[in-house]
Formats: sequence, C-alpha cells, structure tokens
Amino acid sequence: MTVTIAVPKEAASGENRVAMVPKVAEKLAKLGVEVRIQKGAGEGSRIPDEGYADPIKVVGRAGDVYNADVVLAVNAPDPKNLAKMKKGSILVSFVQAHQNPEAVKALNEAGVTCFAMELVPRITRAQSMDALSSQASAAGYKAALMAANSLERFLPMLTTAAGTIRPAKVLVIGAGVAGLQAIATAKRLGAKVEAYDVRTDTKEQVESLGADFLVAEGVKAEAEGGYARELTDEEKAKQQEMLAKHVGQADAVITTAAVPGRPAPKIISKDMVAKMKSGSVIVDLGAAGGGNCELTKPGETVKEGSVTILGPTNVPAELAEHASEMYAQNLFNFLSLILVEEEAPEGEDKPKGPQPRKLAIDWDDEVLAKSVLTHDGEIKNEAAKEALQG
Ligand code: NAI
Repeated sequence: MTVTIAVPKEAASGENRVAMVPKVAEKLAKLGVEVRIQKGAGEGSRIPDEGYADPIKVVGRAGDVYNADVVLAVNAPDPKNLAKMKKGSILVSFVQAHQNPEAVKALNEAGVTCFAMELVPRITRAQSMDALSSQASAAGYKAALMAANSLERFLPMLTTAAGTIRPAKVLVIGAGVAGLQAIATAKRLGAKVEAYDVRTDTKEQVESLGADFLVAEGVKAEAEGGYARELTDEEKAKQQEMLAKHVGQADAVITTAAVPGRPAPKIISKDMVAKMKSGSVIVDLGAAGGGNCELTKPGETVKEGSVTILGPTNVPAELAEHASEMYAQNLFNFLSLILVEEEAPEGEDKPKGPQPRKLAIDWDDEVLAKSVLTHDGEIKNEAAKEALQG
C-alpha cells in the first residue's frame, strides 16, 4: 500500500508558513509516497497550487488531507480536524502542549501518533531535524531588520561629506539560536553590538561574531541540556543592575530570552524603559511567552514615551518563504526515521532502484522516543500530561 502524506493549509491567523515546499515534496514523491497538499496551503509562502507539480496532488477537501497516513503541519491543526485523522496515523508538527491541551486531548482520543517538533532532542544526530533552531534563526535575523527599520537612524558608521555618523548601538539579550542570528545580522548592518546571556558559556560564540559580551557578576544559570534555568530573585537583581546601564545606552534592544516550558523571563523593567534614549526601540522576541519587557503587548507595537516596543508573536511567519523551506527540510529529515525501505519477500533479492517505503517506528531510536507526544491512546510526554490535568 502506498504511504500517503498530506499537508493542510495552516489555519492560524498570520501564519504564512506551510509545512511542505515543492522541492522537498518532490523528494518525498521520489521515495514512492503519495503527497497531497491542501489547496491554497502554499499561498502565504508565495507558492501557488501549480507550484506543486505532478505527481504531487493538490486536494480541495479537508477530508482528503486528514485521512492520510501522515499529516505534516507547522502548528497542530484544530481539534475538529484532528478528530478526522485515522486511528494509528501520524501527525508531525509543532504542538506546544502546555499552551494547547485541547489538541493533545483530540490527538489522544483519535489514537494518533503525534511527534512534536519542539520535542526533538537537540543532539548532534538530530540537528538536521531541529525546527526550533531553523525557525529561531529566521526570527533572529528578522528581529534585527525590524529593529533597523523602526529606528530613525543609520546602523553603520558613515563618513560622508555631511559629517560622520556614529554607528548605532544594539543590545541583544539572550544569545541562543535567535540571539546569535540577531547579533550576526546587526553586525553585518554595521551596528556596534553588545550581548548578554545567563549562560556564560555563550561568551565565546558572541565574541566570535564580533560583539561584546556583558557579564552580570555572580549570575551563571546553565541548566540541563544546554538550556537556561530561571534566576533567583537575588540573581535577577544583579542582572537588572548590570543591564540597566547598557539598556539606557542602546539605540535598539533585541530580547530573545527563554526558559523552556516557563513564561518568558521579565528582564526589562518599566523603569529601564523610562530611562532609554529618545527614539530607541525594543524588539521583544519573547512576546509569544508573555514578553521579556514588562511593557510588551504581545502581538502589538506600542509607544512608551518616545520608545517603540515591538511584540511580534510569530516572526518566522514574516519570513515565510525561507522559514517554510527550512521547516520542510527538517520534516523530510525527521520522516527519514520512520519512512523505511520495505524488505524484499523472503528468498527474493531486493529489486534495483528506489525501494518502496513503509512506515515503521523504532522506539529504541532516541529521537522518536523523546519527540512522541501521543501514541496508541496514551500521552507519552510528562509535561503534556500535566498540561492536560490543568
Ligand atoms: P531558548 O530559545 O530556550 O532561549 C534563548 C536564550 O535565552 C538562551 O540562550 C538562554 O540561555 C537565554 N536566557 C534565558 N533566560 C535568560 C535571562 N534571564 N537573561 C538572559 N538570557 C536568558 O534557547 P535556544 O536558542 O533554543 O537554545 C539554547 C541552547 O540550546 C543553545 O545555545 C545550545 O546550547 C542548545 N542547542 C543545542 C543544539 C544541538 O544540536 N546540540 C541545537 C540548538 C540549540
């Protein structure tokens, strides 16, 4: 039986990404699977339906998407559509179970095996599947451009006949994947960049990009898996004290600080904003988790005096063409773990050329075991269980 893989049109407002782009869909089709794309799914990423060429099928009815063996999405589809999925079929998408308990419930009730892209472990072998990183890169890059665009100043130093322009100062808080990309982009635009992270091990990476690393004495908050932990009140105070001066001197502050499974840490206080330079800008990538600045309004751009605070909640969607391309490739690499070659019947040699594929899940594979959210009517992830119990 031919394996069917389908991709819905994303439903969330402002979500321009699509889980599958033509060039990756063609690679899937070459493996002998049937690829179905819901009509209009690529529109937001500038891919017309005709962009998905034969043998890829563009289907109009939601039923033809949700009855596939595998559904690939950016965000978990709504519970009504999840309920249409076949028992034993597979969903691969971002789910964010703690924010989306209804989806977890629907997946579980439908008996769907769901792999959540945010749960893919950050081990070397899974780097090519790491959608958190690919999307964070897109967000960090775009955040630097948003900051540049919101400023009424140049970023680079300019020596002109009309005088010398001093470079803008950009402060990046949080030097993970998004932060490092924001630093690199602001540097390429010619800004003078400073960066801070509670994981002091990021110093070397920050400096290798040509930025200055800021240190809050006595604050080192590395946790398991290379992530940060929440700070104690005493550590927070030390951090605030050190950062206040630098925030006050910056033209643009880009915040990307996050602690997995927790609301975004509040790092920039009202008071710090009040002391910022006139015309300065904050781009708060922590907005989706409540914001790294006390005054951020998620999804909005607000003015506090003469300071502009941007609180975008889905920045990768603003770079949809490339964010979709990278995400589709992450999914393709993930699928290679479960889309395995069929064995030749006993006593027969494997035929030459591409082998037919079947779905098989090897639960001894760490990547699959750690990224599974629901399987066979059971919630496999502790955090998701807790989210469901409220
Ligand atoms: P994230 O999105 O969870 O957090 C962003 C950054 O915010 C982190 O660098 C974190 O240390 C920082 N942060 C948290 N609280 C803060 C505070 N109060 N003040 C200042 N900064 C704060 O992290 P992301 O970018 O998804 O990944 C972080 C790390 O994960 C990487 O730098 C790396 O160590 C690891 N990783 C490993 C990969 C691998 O394949 N081995 C791939 C990607 C990431």
